[in-house]
Parts: sequence; C-alpha cells; structure tokens
Amino acid sequence: MSKTNILQHLAIIMDGNGRWAKMREKARTQGHKVGAETVRAITTYCAKHETIETLTLYAFSTENWKRPKMEVSFLMKLLDNYLTNELDTYMELGTRFETIGDLSPFSPKLKKTIEKTKEATKKNTKLVQVLALNYGSRDEIVRAANRVIADKKVLTEESLSAALDSPYSDIDLLIRTSGEQRLSNFLLWQLSYSELFFTETLWPDFSPQELEKIIENFQLRDRKFGGI
Ligand code: IPE
Ligand code: IPE
Ligand code: MG
Repeated sequence: MSKTNILQHLAIIMDGNGRWAKMREKARTQGHKVGAETVRAITTYCAKHETIETLTLYAFSTENWKRPKMEVSFLMKLLDNYLTNELDTYMELGTRFETIGDLSPFSPKLKKTIEKTKEATKKNTKLVQVLALNYGSRDEIVRAANRVIADKKVLTEESLSAALDSPYSDIDLLIRTSGEQRLSNFLLWQLSYSELFFTETLWPDFSPQELEKIIENFQLRDRKFGGI
C-alpha cells in the first residue's frame, strides 16, 4: 500500500487580485479587498485542518514597491485593517500571527499593529499564520548570511537555516493561484523539496473546496527527496 503524504506546512503565492478586478471593470484595489476575504476563509480552513501547522502567505514582495503609490498605500491600509478587525477570529481559531520579511520600511502605525497582533496571539497553538511582508527570498538569504557572519559562526546549511526569518518547518506544498508559473522571489531556500501546484483560479475566487482537492492531489504524490 502506498503511503499518504502529511501536509504540515502549506505556502501560497496569492496572485490574481488585479486581473479579477479588471475582468469586472473594477479598480485593482477591489480585487485586493475581496482577496482579503479569501485570506480569512483559507486561514479558517487551515486552522481547523488536522495536520496543517503552518500557513505561509505571500502578501507583499520586495518588488511590489514598484507599483503605483496609491495601490501600495491601499495595501498597507488593508493589512492594518485586516489585522485589527481579525483579532477576534485569530483568538477563536487559535491562530498565532507571525511575519517574515523586512518590516523596517513600514509606517510606525502599521509596525505597531503587527507587533500588537503577534503579542496578542503568541500563545495560540492550532495554526501559525505567517505573512510574508516586504519579503524577498534573496533579501532574506543575504540578511541571514550577514547574521551568521556577525555572530562569528561557520556558514553551514544549519546555521544559515537558523538565521532565516522563517525558522519554521520545511514547506510541504506550495500553491500559486492565477495561472502564473514562477516563484517571484518567494522562499527559494525553503522550497527546495516542496511539491508545487499551480491553479488558474484567481486569488479572490480561490476557496477551501479547491484547497481540499489540491491537498488530496498532494497526499498521493510520490515524494522521494533524492532517494529511490
Ligand atoms: C496579488 O495580486 C496581490 C499582491 C501581489 C499584493 P496582484 O495584484 O499581483 O494581481 P495581478 O497579478 O495583477 O492580477
Ligand atoms: C508575487 O506576485 C507577490 C505576491 C503575491 C505578494 P506578483 O504579482 O508581484 O508577481 P509577478 O510580478 O507576477 O512575478
Ligand atoms: Mg500578480
């Protein structure tokens, strides 16, 4: 009998908000707004899932600053509102909030909301929701390598891994929505042996039902890690 893979760490590149809005002749920001609802639905599903321990979501990349100022500030405001309004849900679901990425360029107000949410949820144990904010994998690896050097440690896979923003387990499954088939500077180190799944569905239309089907597909894959 073949064994079933256990999904502990799921990562998602949430893509397609702009196209979702454009198809409806709406402003791109409307796509982000509905996308935030999907974040809530998917996080709820994962918190209730038996084996998922960590959900890492790509919310804002180091390259996303290239977007129009108005869209960037909308995304910052949306994040602040989301964290503030969702605190009760984080507590009800037993979800701990964490981040990866360099938070230094964010406004003092947003940084405060982020810290407050981390502090309030730090004892929750059902799920860790990790938001990648101003995250770029190359940036993370360079910052980690500098930390190892500053600590006068020998650079090894272990010391570098430990110095990354994300001291979480290896990622089992990565999903990218919207049909794009690229990593866009997401978790290059941590995805070394992850299973990849690309769906055409745009992020605002992504649902727990579709996620469940993707997990079933993942469970049946033959993961070999270089062995036979
Ligand atoms: C993903 O949707 C959300 C962020 C990157 C913040 P996009 O905004 O990239 O949507 P598309 O790719 O333009 O459709
Ligand atoms: C990746 O999506 C970043 C996030 C989902 C936050 P992008 O839409 O920015 O990626 P590219 O530009 O299509 O590669
Ligand atoms: Mg995109």
